[in-house]
Amino acid sequence: MPEIPPLKTAVLLSGNGTTLQNLIDRRAALPIDIQLVVASRADAYGLVRAKNAGIATALVESKNFRRGAGAPDWSAMGAALDAVLLPRRFDLICLAGFMCFYPLPPALRGKVINIHPALLPAFGGRGMYGRRVHEAVKNSGATTSGCTVHYVTNDYDAGPIIWQASCAVSPTDTADDIAHKVFQLECEAYPAAIKIFAEKLAGGAVLELRV
Ligand code: GAR
Repeated sequence: MPEIPPLKTAVLLSGNGTTLQNLIDRRAALPIDIQLVVASRADAYGLVRAKNAGIATALVESKNFRRGAGAPDWSAMGAALDAVLLPRRFDLICLAGFMCFYPLPPALRGKVINIHPALLPAFGGRGMYGRRVHEAVKNSGATTSGCTVHYVTNDYDAGPIIWQASCAVSPTDTADDIAHKVFQLECEAYPAAIKIFAEKLAGGAVLELRV
């Protein structure tokens, strides 16, 4: 199989950066070159992880983009993200615990992927992120959960799925237990999906995304 050149990659996050750390730890085995980490909060620990790994960082703080009543203004924040990301012409943008809605400009369609801690379309959509997802799974009595890596479109958690992995959920599992199991899956799933993304790109695939 021909060598795939590393994809010029940016990672967007809002918090702890556990997913970023997984990608950093595995980057030698992945077809990516993480050149920039963008955080939506100044106190995101993911910024520290990036700096420790020698990766450039940028801050686009969601708190600066609010409408009159305090509701987020995603379109204004999206313009600020565009200003950071578009000039650098990334091949791939990985959302990694990025808790903001980024209305994608046409130039980024098919280049942005996200990992979600449930088996989409179940337990996805607006307001479903992080621990809330695992609590919803627990409260539903579901016997299975998992994670999904998908292309990002302008609908929450609804883009084409690249990779899913599942695990059993037992009635005695707490939301934390489910989170732990799912994160173990995520550590394998994001790298697997990135390899698929890179292979498709190298094969000249053009993704027609309905947004
Ligand atoms: C990951 O578990 C990811 O599945 C989840 O955030 C976590 C990483 O956040 N993403 C979502 O819930 C997106 N809807 P962290 O880096 O703050 O630990």
